[in-house]
Amino acid sequence: MENKTVYLNGLYLPLDKARVSVMDRGFLFGDGVYEVIPSYSGHLFHFQEHMERLENSLNTIRLVNPHSREQWLEILTPLLDFSLDQYIYLQITRGVAPKRDHAFPEDTLPTVFAMCSNIVPLDGKEWGVKAISLDDSRWDLCNVKATTLLANILLRQEAVEKGCAEAILVKDGYVTEGAASNIFAVIDGLLLTPPKGSGILPGITRDVILEIARTNKLPCSEDIISFEALKNASEIWITSSTREIIPVVELDSKKVGDGKPGPVFRTMHELFQAYKRSLL
Ligand code: PDD
Repeated sequence: MENKTVYLNGLYLPLDKARVSVMDRGFLFGDGVYEVIPSYSGHLFHFQEHMERLENSLNTIRLVNPHSREQWLEILTPLLDFSLDQYIYLQITRGVAPKRDHAFPEDTLPTVFAMCSNIVPLDGKEWGVKAISLDDSRWDLCNVKATTLLANILLRQEAVEKGCAEAILVKDGYVTEGAASNIFAVIDGLLLTPPKGSGILPGITRDVILEIARTNKLPCSEDIISFEALKNASEIWITSSTREIIPVVELDSKKVGDGKPGPVFRTMHELFQAYKRSLL
């Protein structure tokens, strides 16, 4: 295990010295929220948007943000290596309670943890990955970036065991998102992604892609996608902070389009990389 420096409750420590109590509500209940923020050459990508989503997640689970945005930046910056592309993982739990009780404890300080990892490009980023569709078995608060990820884990694991990079989730006949990504599809020349709501995580990468598409006049829309329509899409992509935009070239063992990354993906990939560089 790489013994990097991590942040825990006000201290910077070697990873193997960072310890939390077994009574931490994050450990006992998954009672916490998290963020994943990419950092390109030490520049935190869309930091304000990640902070806004963090604030929304905290508000929904009724936890007070322990830090201002400025304090978060001060905490996270020492973890970054300015010569690398990395991502910050940060997590806040409801803290260490005196006893295991589902209801919130009183006067408990939250546990704040952050670490930084290198972005390792996914195999197939350029030439595409396989995906399977699965029933979306998750709860009604998918807009909260909660550490409670058991359903997502089981779905991703099922995909991996079938040789796939992602599970594309379907609820009541409509596509929601991936186990750890948002979904885009090109259908009849239109770039589509499901609208925000409680059924999906409002991905920051998703928003950036929509912004880039609109700026460059690529036809796009935030609209529901039926699973039937997805099966006939000419392109499918999965998007996230750690994987950026990945073309899905096979869904449920059938080729998507001609089985190669499509022209809209290639255009968006170039535009996305140029946009990233423009922020440095
Ligand atoms: N996950 N939907 C889900 C369920 C996710 O877990 C993620 C990201 C996304 C994409 O959001 P963003 O573009 O803001 O990364 C959508 C992160 C990377 C994770 O859990 O590691």
